[in-house]
Amino acid sequence: MGIVLGIESSCDETAAALVTTDRTILAQHIASQDEAHAPYGGVVPEIAARAHAERLAPMIEAVLADAGMSLDECDAIAATAGPGLIGGVMVGLVSAKALAMASGKPLMALNHLEGHALSPRLADASVEFPYLLLLVSGGHCQILSVEGVGKYRRLATTIDDALGEAFDKTAKILGLGFPGGPAVERLAREGDAAAVPLPRPLKGSAEPHFSFAGLKSAVLRAKESGEHRDADIAASFQQAAIDCILDRLAKAIGSAPPADTLVVAGGVASNAAIRGALETFATNRGMRFTAPPPALCTDNAAMIAWAGCERLALGHSDPLDIAARPRWPL
Ligand code: KG4
Ligand code: ZN
Repeated sequence: MGIVLGIESSCDETAAALVTTDRTILAQHIASQDEAHAPYGGVVPEIAARAHAERLAPMIEAVLADAGMSLDECDAIAATAGPGLIGGVMVGLVSAKALAMASGKPLMALNHLEGHALSPRLADASVEFPYLLLLVSGGHCQILSVEGVGKYRRLATTIDDALGEAFDKTAKILGLGFPGGPAVERLAREGDAAAVPLPRPLKGSAEPHFSFAGLKSAVLRAKESGEHRDADIAASFQQAAIDCILDRLAKAIGSAPPADTLVVAGGVASNAAIRGALETFATNRGMRFTAPPPALCTDNAAMIAWAGCERLALGHSDPLDIAARPRWPL
């Protein structure tokens, strides 16, 4: 059995975790910066980088203390090396390099999206390759065929906004604050999903790509018209998003290698309405559906440590001079 220390700092969560190759999360800490960014209605990169720099080192000490371990007992140090806000990514990656250098343990410089993509296998040992993955977060909206560690075939992506971004913008339009996804989901429960006519961008188009910019603009027009309850707008937006996801997934399945499991990951995967719709969709197609628990869907370090565990098992590691990458497609 191996133990990996994972570090996540690519956006506005500072996180550290210790995870074993047999799927035990020995310890994890996560500090959200929501309060620091809320006055600005979105993540401010400079504020995020400073907060990561202040919090990360004591947090790493805390997870080691929680697990009653020393750094020498870890088998590898894994950190997100991109994509993300470069200042924050550098704080995490440089910390991991320093710890790897001091301890002589291998460094794993990981793609944040790989952390999300492999997180279902941390939560559920029975998830085997290949599986079809809907990866929906604040910065990404993709359908991937996950064929092995490091073997990801992208079947679809967004041509404009990510789904989480659409949730956040809808929340802003409705005055729900930041981050918006959970607030929109809560309000949607009180609304009528058929009340507000909203578009389903790209529905029926030949390629399985996503587009959410037009939906967001329609939400703005619906709000400005003054004709609708906010809860109805939230519910109708969420339903339009679900309809788009299911249509695009159905299209992608036609171009993917056969997989018997559908998985959803990324921050938006913590949305219960979306999870429910995906479960029905998969069941109707004879596929199994699985999703990590919500705490493993939003950004966290356990998924990074787990991706490190997967790579450790294959004997991978990265050189200490590896660079952080603000853009890094999976
Ligand atoms: O994966 P994540 O934590 O960070 C990124 O890598 O982007 O995803 C954050 C995104 C935000 O846009 C947030 O509004 C959205 O996930 N989100 C949700 C929910 N919880 C988080 N969107 C819809 N419903 C939710 N319950
Ligand atoms: Zn993420």
